[in-house]
Amino acid sequence: MSKKTSDELFRHAEDVKKYLHKDEMYFLYETVFHMPDNSIILEIGSFKGGSAVIMGMAIRDSKKISQIFAVDPFLGSSEYGSDVDTSSEFDAAINNHNVAQYITIISKASEIAFDEWEFGRRIDFLWVDGGHEYEFVSKDIQLWNSYLNVGGKIALHDSEGIFMFGLFTGVRRAIKEYMFEHKHFKDYGFVHSITYATKTHTMTVKEWAKTRKAYYCWWIGRNDLNTKKYASIILPAMIIKCYIYQFIRFVKYFIRS
Ligand SMILES: C[S@@+](CC[C@H](N)C(=O)[O-])C[C@H]1O[C@@H](n2cnc3c(N)ncnc32)[C@H](O)[C@@H]1O
Repeated sequence: MSKKTSDELFRHAEDVKKYLHKDEMYFLYETVFHMPDNSIILEIGSFKGGSAVIMGMAIRDSKKISQIFAVDPFLGSSEYGSDVDTSSEFDAAINNHNVAQYITIISKASEIAFDEWEFGRRIDFLWVDGGHEYEFVSKDIQLWNSYLNVGGKIALHDSEGIFMFGLFTGVRRAIKEYMFEHKHFKDYGFVHSITYATKTHTMTVKEWAKTRKAYYCWWIGRNDLNTKKYASIILPAMIIKCYIYQFIRFVKYFIRS
C-alpha cells in the first residue's frame, strides 16, 4: 500500500473522524509515515482508538517496522465522563482497521506507565492527548521528554486558544512553561489544535529567533507562523500582556495586604 492522500485517509478512517480534525489526522499520518524503521511511538491518551488507528495505518502503509505504545487507563476522563470502560471500543477499532499488530496496549495512567517503562527504551514520537489538566500535561511533557530522542518529535492535542485574562488552558500553560520557556525544543509548528516541536540539545541564534516567532504567533492564537501578517497584532499584544501581568500582580498584592 502506498501513502494515502488526506481525502483517502479521511474516507478510510470514517469512524474515527469525530475525535480529530481532518488536518490533525493527516499530520499524525504523515509524521508516522515518514519516520525511520523501528521507530517507537508513544501515545498518551488513546480513548476509543482514533489516533492509534491513524498512526497504525501509517506504519502499515509505509511498510516499516515501528511500534506504537498506547497508554491509557481506559476508564474515561474528566472530559468524557469517568468510569466508562473504553477498552472494548479501542480493541474493536484497532482490529477493524487491521492495525492491532503495530500497537502495544498499556492500560495504565501515564505516570504509572512511566515508572514501569522498560529502561533505555527511547521514544521517537511522543503524542500527548491524555488528561488535559495542567498537572497531567506538564507531567507528561516533563517525564516522557527524558525518553524522547534528540531529533524526535513531540505533539500535543487541544492546544489552541489565546491568552485571556492571565489564564491559559491546562494544555497551553504546560506548553508555555515546559516547552517554550526551555531551550530543548525547536522547529515548532501548528496544525489545527496540535502544537508540535522537535527535541534538540543545541539551538543556534536563528533557531532561537524562529522559536520566539512561533511563540508569539501561538500566543496571540494565530498559528500560521506569519509574523509579518500579524506584526500589527503582535506588538500591541505584547504590550497588553505586560499590562495584564501588572494588573494580576496588583490584584494579588491587594488581596495579600
Ligand atoms: C481526548 S481522549 C484521547 C483521544 C485519542 N487520542 C483520539 O484521538 O482518539 C483523552 C484520553 O486520555 C485518557 N487519560 C486521562 N488521563 C490520563 C493519564 N493520566 N494517563 C493516560 N491517559 C489518560 C482518558 O482515559 C481518555 O481516554
